[in-house]
Amino acid sequence: MDRIVITGGNPLRGTVRVSGAKNAALPILASTILGGGECVITNLPRVVDVVTMVKLLGLLGVAVKAEGSRAAISAETVRSTEAPYELVKTMRASVLVLGPLVSRWGEAAVSLPGGCAIGTRPVNLHLAGLAKLGAEVTIEHGYIRAKAKRLRGARIYLDTPTVTGTENLMMAACLAEGTTVIENAAREPEVVDLAAFLIKRGARITGAGSDLITVEGVPALRGADHEVIPDRIEAGTFLAAGAITGGDVCVEGCLPNHMEAVSMKLREAGFDVTEGKESIRLKASRRPKGVDMKTFAYPGFPTDMQAQMMALMCVAEGTSVITETVFESRFIHVPELRRMGADIKVEGSHAVVNGTEKITGAPVMASDLRASAGLIVAGLAAEGETEVSRVYHLDRGYERIEEKLGGLGAVIRRVRGGAGSAVTVAT
Ligand code: EPZ
Repeated sequence: MDRIVITGGNPLRGTVRVSGAKNAALPILASTILGGGECVITNLPRVVDVVTMVKLLGLLGVAVKAEGSRAAISAETVRSTEAPYELVKTMRASVLVLGPLVSRWGEAAVSLPGGCAIGTRPVNLHLAGLAKLGAEVTIEHGYIRAKAKRLRGARIYLDTPTVTGTENLMMAACLAEGTTVIENAAREPEVVDLAAFLIKRGARITGAGSDLITVEGVPALRGADHEVIPDRIEAGTFLAAGAITGGDVCVEGCLPNHMEAVSMKLREAGFDVTEGKESIRLKASRRPKGVDMKTFAYPGFPTDMQAQMMALMCVAEGTSVITETVFESRFIHVPELRRMGADIKVEGSHAVVNGTEKITGAPVMASDLRASAGLIVAGLAAEGETEVSRVYHLDRGYERIEEKLGGLGAVIRRVRGGAGSAVTVAT
């Protein structure tokens, strides 16, 4: 397993370009199952989860010609309507093929995604919504089985504004008979990007980006080209890296209006954050001030930035209270940050961070995608060397992160292979 080794202390300076948003790319790729002609999707991030989704589409009989960040996709036939356990267990977002499969082919069998490090992550709202649309949904031997001659439009209320739940049901509703209304829908930019792609293909969707989405079913979609939006979480991660190292970082190719909650928190912590049309620049002139933050569904402060901001607060002046309201156990990075000398106390859904002058490098272990990003951010400022193991978590959602951070002046390298067979990859 690869490891990433960082020698902390260098202020990061310069510009870095973000990749396409993983969490927009995954539903957009899954939506090609709805068929109707060739789609060309560009600005796909070259991350493991996208490779996994392309593999899954291939298993289902979708023709995918992927090269680099571009994929030409057509789904005129179907080979299977089953998303197998071996694949789903590596990426829970595979559940995004459920809605399109039932809507297009009348049936689907998707392995029930297990929990993960950050929580149980149920999909009950996906299933209840599909049932409302007229699908017969059962769970047998660890698989979700859904069947429907033709889905019928319905009014669906989501108890929580689930992102992939909203996406699954919006996709399913595209080919349903009649109108579907999704209430308490997720408002994330990735939902809006999926809707934009579907609308280009002839879907009749209004309200994406609000908590009330209306979909008028159509008999079929057509092909379209689409460029995936930039990854707002990758962009936020680089800003946090610039902040914690006392640097001056300009993130290019991002959409500042997708990142207002993060920019606002960084300004509150004392950083100078200026926005261009498609860029955000952060200049650090002092140690961060401790600020409180609470994660919420969009447009609230994103849970996917919680670990990275906690790392920053570890070296802040003063105390910050970080409250995680979206997932029930998204503090798994805390024990690892403590190994680096951070002073953090967890009380239920709150983490109380008492900022310290410095943190020190240590061998730490990644446990999920964003926790890994938080450890990398901490390592950039830690005194001495930090070795982050199990970086396969990181590779699921970050493209060439060590190269991008190296380009900003970080002393960072990837060590390939297991213990003893280390080969250092220069960045
Ligand atoms: C999406 O996950 C993202 N993944 C996550 O990003 C992100 O953290 C999350 O949204 C919240 O923003 C993708 O888009 C692929 P949810 P998702 O359904 O859709 C509860 C990353 O690091 N819930 O919005 O799975 C659930 O338990 C990943 O890129 C139900 O109770 O999250 C959670 O508490 C991590 N029943 C809350 O809703 C359901 O049927 C929000 O979950 C569905 C969700």
